Amino acid sequence: MKVERVLLKDYTTLGVGGPAELWTVETREELRRATEAPYRVLGNGSNLLVLDEGVPERVIRLAGEFQAWDLKGWVGAGALLPLLVQEAARAGLSGLEGLLGIPAQVGGAVKMNAGTRFGEMADALEAVEIFHDGAFHVYAPEELGFGYRKSNLPPGGIVTRVRLRLKERPLEEIKRRMEEVDAARKGQPKKKSAGCAFKNPPGHSAGRLIDQRGLKGLRVGDAMVSLEHGNFIVNLGRATAKDVLALLKRIQEELPLELEWEVWP
Ligand code: FAD
Ligand code: EPU
Repeated sequence: MKVERVLLKDYTTLGVGGPAELWTVETREELRRATEAPYRVLGNGSNLLVLDEGVPERVIRLAGEFQAWDLKGWVGAGALLPLLVQEAARAGLSGLEGLLGIPAQVGGAVKMNAGTRFGEMADALEAVEIFHDGAFHVYAPEELGFGYRKSNLPPGGIVTRVRLRLKERPLEEIKRRMEEVDAARKGQPKKKSAGCAFKNPPGHSAGRLIDQRGLKGLRVGDAMVSLEHGNFIVNLGRATAKDVLALLKRIQEELPLELEWEVWP
């Protein structure tokens, strides 16, 4: 187990966030010990806005045995989703294609029920193992309250591994689906971001609404509404959480949008 003081801006895709104590755990026993005091769990840091003052709790990161995976058995919650999407396709296993292009760890993808209009994480799950209240419990996906970009995990629950629901399919079919998903993501920016900032209101695209309001290019410090896609806030270099929060507020003054990101603390 490694415990170190870090700046969370180095562990989030948006590149903002202050100090925290990072606990990297490699075994179940280490996870138990790390959870003996208040904690948060960090995945790939792709859906987080961490404030500049940092977080007081331990920040737990899953490594070691939690990153091991077997597509036909258990897949560790610390495994990288993009790697699994590619490996499943290579093995002729269908079910993850809709998740192409989502930067996440498996655990973060479960918690957020990450997805696109081509499919979401919950559809690809057969079982989810969650550590809470000092023990490891296995759940069926139906028990976890999945909805659009949300789940209802037990309080303090840490996803430790999952079993995937994949089907054998011809390679060409899987490839064709992946190309379709890839094409749908072409308009998304490559700059530092945390994906879409806001949830889509039913029947609408937040990105389109922001675009139609003429808010693209709106900037506070180094935080800017992407010129490519209205629902992405990009960090042009040295943005702080304060900049990002101010920009979110400017957008929400114009449109009643619900934040998709999680704000820490
Ligand atoms: P983090 O951001 O690290 O954490 C998010 C939440 O999950 C936190 O509450 C954290 O505590 C919790 N968490 C993390 N690991 C665990 C665990 N093991 N057990 C319990 N809780 C855990 N999202 C989409 O849905 N669709 C998209 O198309 C999409 N595109 C994106 C494109 C870009 C360029 C970027 C940067 C982001 C995009 N996102 C998208 C957002 C993001 O990738 C997803 O929300 C993803 O699920 C976050 O996973 P993560 O591992 O990074 O979690
Ligand atoms: N549009 C605009 N202007 C913009 C952005 C979009 O006019 O600035 C239009 C597009 O032309 C399109 C429509 O709005 O006609 C929808 O846009 P897009 O296909 O990009 O989808 P989205 O609804 O904005 C959703 C998810 C993305 C996911 C894509 C692909 C949400 C909040 N967003 O975006 O997920 O990658 O579909 O399926 O659900 C995320 O959640 O972080 C994320 C990036």
